[in-house]
Amino acid sequence: MGLGLLTDGINEVIATTWQNAAPMGLIYRNQVVRMAVFRGSHTAERIRQDGWVVANFIFDPLMYVKTAFEDLPPGEFLDEKAGGIPVQRLAGAEAWAAYQAVVERETDDALIVQLSLLKEVVCRSAIHPVNRGFNSIIEATVHATRFQKSREPRLHDLILHHAALVRRCGGARELEALDLLFTYLDFGNEE
Ligand SMILES: Cc1cc2nc3c(=O)[nH]c(=O)nc-3n(C[C@H](O)[C@H](O)[C@H](O)COP(=O)(O)O)c2cc1C
Repeated sequence: MGLGLLTDGINEVIATTWQNAAPMGLIYRNQVVRMAVFRGSHTAERIRQDGWVVANFIFDPLMYVKTAFEDLPPGEFLDEKAGGIPVQRLAGAEAWAAYQAVVERETDDALIVQLSLLKEVVCRSAIHPVNRGFNSIIEATVHATRFQKSREPRLHDLILHHAALVRRCGGARELEALDLLFTYLDFGNEE
């Protein structure tokens, strides 16, 4: 199987499982696609239960923040068929790829899941100029999901570092996403 929509390395997508969405890294190395999914997440539970996952390619910073912290309403999901299996993808995806998901091994913290492509579809393709504000929303959100569990001061500082970049380089949507992130974290106007 060729590269398809994924690029070599880790692809930060929004993964959908049944009625659930969360940002996840799809690790593409040596022609194999894997995910490391933390135990206790809905994504891990659903993968174990249903054996599929969909990678949604989406460039809305707000969606990354929202799906990292809360559930989406049912209307945000669309039913599709991939390899004869009913799957769900995000209505707002610019492209999506559905995979059969098999748990390869388990560590103390995570399931290591191997993915096999069932179907991929490009719905619309737009150019996304590189924006450091968008990239920093992704970084800040990764750190925020870990900070929520550990309250590590180092992560707090990294979040504020990326927040400053969002304010400098982001557009209106990135600023909205940052506000939402700070609300979830219960941060005030910290600099
Ligand atoms: C960009 C980004 C990438 C992430 N990648 C992963 C990942 O590869 N594995 C994982 O378990 N969690 C990852 N997370 C954290 C999950 O999205 C987060 O724990 C989420 O709350 C899980 O939601 P769920 O319980 O609905 O599955 C990532 C978060 C972000 C923002």
